Amino acid sequence: MKVLVTVASKHGATAEIGKVIQQTITAAGHQAHLNEPGKVTDLSPYDAVVLGSAVYAGNWRPSARKFATKHTDELHAMPLWVFSSGPLGPEEEVTDTYMGPVIDKHVEALDPVEHKVFSGKLEQSDLNLSERMIIRVVNAPYGDYRDKNEIVTWAKSIADYLTDME
Ligand SMILES: Cc1cc2nc3c(=O)[nH]c(=O)nc-3n(C[C@H](O)[C@H](O)[C@H](O)COP(=O)(O)O)c2cc1C
Repeated sequence: MKVLVTVASKHGATAEIGKVIQQTITAAGHQAHLNEPGKVTDLSPYDAVVLGSAVYAGNWRPSARKFATKHTDELHAMPLWVFSSGPLGPEEEVTDTYMGPVIDKHVEALDPVEHKVFSGKLEQSDLNLSERMIIRVVNAPYGDYRDKNEIVTWAKSIADYLTDME
């Protein structure tokens, strides 16, 4: 099956998650292509889509939101998986409140097979001054909290689902 993996990232951490998903789905025997949401013009070559976004201030990146709005009808007609990446800190200290109601609304409108939340990465040297100030105010922890095994496991479940559809 042909799969579009399209990911909105600001500082690169979510793009790296997208790359792992694309590689895992490809290794499982499908053709997965990676592209940024703003660069995708046509979904007709694809049988399925994985849409991901980094989370900033409780919302997806603008390009993911635009993609979701522009392609809602086409996405309803094919298998769609969605992921959000943002929560920081050890897993036991992270709650869904990092995501918030705005993202719930996007997910509701898209009605994907699944919405997965992956922890994120925060590197002080990547951030601009205002981002550093926000991080100081909310006291978010710096570090890379992404779990590659969890990402690979999720991508394999997508590949299996698509194989079963063939
Ligand atoms: C200014 C700022 C605001 C953020 N807001 C949120 C948020 O509301 N919810 C969340 O889960 N993560 C939030 N994060 C964490 C990012 O989503 C996380 O660092 C993510 O891995 C960044 O992905 P990227 O490198 O692809 O941009 C925020 C990070 C920054 C710097």
